[in-house]
Amino acid sequence: MYYLIGCFHWCPLLLFISCTLAADYVIPSTWNGTNITASSEDCQSTISAAIQQEFTNGTSLDANFYSIMAVYDLYSNTTVYKNQVTTYFKTTTFNPQSTDSIDLGTDAIRAYQVYRDPAMISLATEVWAYVRNYTISPADVAAGSIATKSFNVGKICPGGATLAGGTFWSTNESETTLYGGNTALFFTLSAYLSQATNNATYLDAAKDSGGFMIDIMDAAGVGNGQAAISASNSANTTCTNIWSPTPGGDWLIDQAGYFMEGLAALPGDTIFGRQNSTVDSLRSSLVNVTLATNPMCNAPNGIINAGGGVGNSQLVQGLGALYRAIREPSDLSAYIGSFLSVQYNAIVAAATIPGSHIYAGSWIGPTTPYDTSNQTQALFGLVNAAQVIFASESSNGTSTNSGGNNTRPTSLAGPIAGGIAGGVAFLSMVGIVLFIIIKRQRQLTSVSQTHSLSNVNSYPTHARNSSRFTLSRRSFSSDLTSADGMDNGYGFKEYGSGSPPKYTLM
Ligand SMILES: *[C@@H]1O[C@H](CO)[C@@H](O)[C@H](O)[C@H]1NC(C)=O
Ligand SMILES: *[C@@H]1O[C@H](CO)[C@@H](O)[C@H](O)[C@H]1NC(C)=O
Ligand SMILES: *[C@@H]1O[C@H](CO)[C@@H](O)[C@H](O)[C@H]1NC(C)=O
Ligand SMILES: *[C@@H]1O[C@H](CO)[C@@H](O)[C@H](O)[C@H]1NC(C)=O
Ligand SMILES: *[C@@H]1O[C@H](CO)[C@@H](O)[C@H](O)[C@H]1NC(C)=O
Ligand SMILES: *[C@@H]1O[C@H](CO)[C@@H](O)[C@H](O)[C@H]1NC(C)=O
Ligand SMILES: *[C@@H]1O[C@H](CO)[C@@H](O)[C@H](O)[C@H]1NC(C)=O
Ligand SMILES: *[C@@H]1O[C@H](CO)[C@@H](O)[C@H](O)[C@H]1NC(C)=O
Ligand SMILES: *[C@@H]1O[C@H](CO)[C@@H](O)[C@H](O)[C@H]1NC(C)=O
Ligand SMILES: *[C@@H]1O[C@H](CO)[C@@H](O)[C@H](O)[C@H]1NC(C)=O
Ligand SMILES: *[C@@H]1O[C@H](CO)[C@@H](O)[C@H](O)[C@H]1NC(C)=O
Ligand SMILES: *[C@@H]1O[C@H](CO)[C@@H](O)[C@H](O)[C@H]1NC(C)=O
Repeated sequence: MYYLIGCFHWCPLLLFISCTLAADYVIPSTWNGTNITASSEDCQSTISAAIQQEFTNGTSLDANFYSIMAVYDLYSNTTVYKNQVTTYFKTTTFNPQSTDSIDLGTDAIRAYQVYRDPAMISLATEVWAYVRNYTISPADVAAGSIATKSFNVGKICPGGATLAGGTFWSTNESETTLYGGNTALFFTLSAYLSQATNNATYLDAAKDSGGFMIDIMDAAGVGNGQAAISASNSANTTCTNIWSPTPGGDWLIDQAGYFMEGLAALPGDTIFGRQNSTVDSLRSSLVNVTLATNPMCNAPNGIINAGGGVGNSQLVQGLGALYRAIREPSDLSAYIGSFLSVQYNAIVAAATIPGSHIYAGSWIGPTTPYDTSNQTQALFGLVNAAQVIFASESSNGTSTNSGGNNTRPTSLAGPIAGGIAGGVAFLSMVGIVLFIIIKRQRQLTSVSQTHSLSNVNSYPTHARNSSRFTLSRRSFSSDLTSADGMDNGYGFKEYGSGSPPKYTLM
């Protein structure tokens, strides 16, 4: 406040501006269930029972599942799952030649931010190095080629942005598609690693990927932009939307969610993109544009509807990470908290078999029998939303929340430098990290499907027949007429069951 001495004439203006901004985040009156009425203890027991159900009935519990247990411990300031999660990551290896998908890095770094086990950051770093080789660098743009690909890479898109920062979805040397989902995953992995290590290599990578997400994919634009473009410089195809005229269905929710999670891990005054956007401003515009204009997130009742009512792990995880990272502007924080609460209430009211702890992939119902992927997706919704309750209850205690400082309760957290207006954001610990990109997919994939993609033309067939050829945790079905507008000429559509996607870099 001392710094404001002399701003006598400005102060009313600043006040006016902040009121104007505040008015923009009005929680729609049609959102159903913006308050979680359950107590912190009730939320904890709901989550704990849902987790127990997985241990009882799950067939192949994966890194994604272990990562949400870590996130739960982070939000609830407990260490209930520390041993199980630590054991899992200590005994997990990354083998890209096999069936591992690139989400494994993200899952590992989420756990690292909570428990700080070296095996976790080591796994995340290994995945990062692998995906780095399938991400276009500024030097690759200058050279017009990238070592892992056989074609020439276009240098500049209409509008003037370069392809630097874009990540391919496939390791096939002739596959030319850059995906927003993979790029956002690599962005977030880089952001978490930057936060954990302070190594500028990761920050630079995050800035390149973040710039690509904004300038090329237009992820912070209406509807979250587009999901996939060509990197090839042949036949004037550079930067063309692969799925034109449809922008990308629920892939766009994934890319928005991952992007949010990475933005939560970076200092708010970090700048990237052609417009020199700050992370602060991007957090705000990305949340707003996603919840207000993405047709799969902006239903009047506020419940995520990624086709057939299906929920989405990435979006709730991204929103949850932001909720934890920011306190200002407070209306943005309340807006996110309300949206998450809507998901919680929907999941416990409509997605679960009464009297059970089994959850469907559709958060508006109907209920379905136990399925690992659907259950894990619901856990992402429950855990990220329950933090709203954990935070509000803990703020009443004698915890770290003190009047002038807008800090969320944290477990192992420390301050990160933040340009957040008027405050300091306490995120995960200093020296902590998160990453993103690779994960096991044993459950969905068989080794025999692994080595079959030899050229671009085989893409459609394999995409339809093999879950190996997924950009993400999602797999593709043979249904070519997608309700999600995903019939894209390659003839695939994502699996509509609500299975949490697996980002595979094939
Ligand atoms: C959010 O988006 C709506 C509609 O696009 C816009 O009117 C509003 O100004 C935006 N709010 C903020 C805070 O950006
Ligand atoms: C709101 O959600 C509750 C369950 O939480 C449901 O019973 C009710 O029908 C919903 N209301 C509307 C208008 O959708
Ligand atoms: C319910 O949620 C809204 C929006 O987040 C908030 O303004 C209101 O105070 C909450 N009501 C109660 C009773 O907590
Ligand atoms: C879950 O596991 C229990 C104990 O093994 C078994 O009795 C039950 O039938 C299983 N339920 C489902 C839905 O698989
Ligand atoms: C990345 O590419 C470089 C240069 O081709 C190679 O030396 C390195 O082993 C690759 N790293 C990984 C993790 O694949
Ligand atoms: C920073 O990270 C990069 C990529 O992992 C690594 O090559 C480099 O050695 C690191 N630098 C330092 C100073 O640790
Ligand atoms: C590429 O674009 C240039 C300029 O717009 C045009 O002259 C050329 O015919 C195009 N080539 C192809 C293969 O479309
Ligand atoms: C962004 O920052 C660079 C370097 O400071 C500057 O040259 C450029 O003009 C800025 N661009 C915009 C749109 O502000
Ligand atoms: C997962 O949930 C979706 C949507 O509720 C449902 O259609 C699907 O059958 C469920 N998957 C399994 C394997 O039960
Ligand atoms: C927090 O404290 C206030 C004032 O003492 C009280 O009204 C409110 O119910 C408390 N909230 C919780 C979640 O305990
Ligand atoms: C806010 O946090 C900062 C940094 O941790 C500390 O120096 C300051 O005293 C705190 N202010 C209040 C009002 O607690
Ligand atoms: C977290 O728990 C520890 C002890 O388990 C406690 O000392 C600390 O104050 C708690 N932090 C918050 C923010 O509640």
